[in-house]
Amino acid sequence: MDVKRFIEEKIEEVKSTVGSEKAISALSGGVDSSVCTVIAHRAIGKNLKVVFIDDGLMRENEPQDVSQIFSSLEIDVEIIDAQKEFFDSLKYKFDPEEKRKAFRNTFYSVFGRAVLKSGARFLVQGTIAPDIIETKGGVKTQHNILEQIGIDPEKGYGFKVIEPIKELFKPEVREVAREAGLPESIYQRMPFPGPGLATRVIGEVTPDRVSLIRKATQIVEEEISPLRPFQAFAVLLNDKGTGIDDVKRKFGNIIIVRSVESKDAMTAETTEVPWEILRKISRRITTEIPEVVRVAYEITTKPPATIEYI
Ligand code: XMP
Repeated sequence: MDVKRFIEEKIEEVKSTVGSEKAISALSGGVDSSVCTVIAHRAIGKNLKVVFIDDGLMRENEPQDVSQIFSSLEIDVEIIDAQKEFFDSLKYKFDPEEKRKAFRNTFYSVFGRAVLKSGARFLVQGTIAPDIIETKGGVKTQHNILEQIGIDPEKGYGFKVIEPIKELFKPEVREVAREAGLPESIYQRMPFPGPGLATRVIGEVTPDRVSLIRKATQIVEEEISPLRPFQAFAVLLNDKGTGIDDVKRKFGNIIIVRSVESKDAMTAETTEVPWEILRKISRRITTEIPEVVRVAYEITTKPPATIEYI
C-alpha cells in the first residue's frame, strides 16, 4: 500500500463528501479513531469538531492523556462526561449482547446530541475491516457498525457516517498513523475495544466493578507491555472464589489475565508470558486490590475463544 497516497486520497474524499458542512469526529484515542481524526482535520480544518466521550469505561487517565496528545498536534478535543448515562444504560444487564447493544445505543444518543449541538451533518468514525467482517459474520455486535447491519444512521440518529479506513487492517492503520505524524504512543497503542472495560467485566457493569478492573488492567499492562504483545488485559469474572485474609476465609473476586499475539485480531495465539511475570502480576493484583483472591492466566486461542470476554 502506498501510505502517502492513501492519506492524500482520503483527505480529498472527506473534503468532497463534507463540502462546506461541518463534521464531528468520535475520538477514543485508539489508533483507528486517531488516524481518522487527523485525516479529517487535514481535510476540513476548523469545520471538524473533535469530541471524546468519557463513558467511564476507559483505562486509567485515558481521557486526559488523549486530549493532551491531540492538543500537542493543535487539534482541540472536547471531553463530554457521559459516565452516568453509560452506567445507567448498563444497569441490571448481564447478557453480553444486551450490554453491547446498550453501549451502542448510549454511544449514538450521546453523539447524536453532540452532533446536533455542533451543527455537524457527518460523523467521522474509525471503523476498520475486521469490525465489518466480524459483525456481518455474526461473530460480534461491534458498537461502531451501523450501515453494515442495516441501521440507517441518518434516519435513526440524524447524521451520515464517514469511515475513511474501513478497508484497512490493523498493521496498515498503524503505518498510516505513523505517516500522518501521530506519536508512537498512539500508533503502537494496543487495541482497546469501543465498549471499553465493559467487554472485560462479566455480569453487571457497575462503577465499582469497573474501578476494580481498571486497576487490574493497569497492573497487567505495566507488567506485560515490555513483551510487546498484541493485546494484554484483565477480566473480572462474575463468579467468586474463596481466599484467606490473615486467618479468616473470605469469598472474593476472580481475575483472568489475558495476553494474545495477533496480526489483525481475526485469529490470536496466547502469549507465552514468563512464569516470573505471571507470578508478579498475581502478587500485585491480590495485594493492590484486596477484593481479589484469585488470579488465573487464560490459555485459549482465537478461535474458538474471542479476544475479549463479551
Ligand atoms: P474479539 O473479542 O472479537 O476482538 O476477538 C477482536 C478485536 O476487536 C476489538 N473489539 C472491539 N473494537 N469495538 C471496537 O472498536 C468493539 O465493540 C470491539 N469488540 C472487540 C478487540 O479488542 C480485539 O482487538
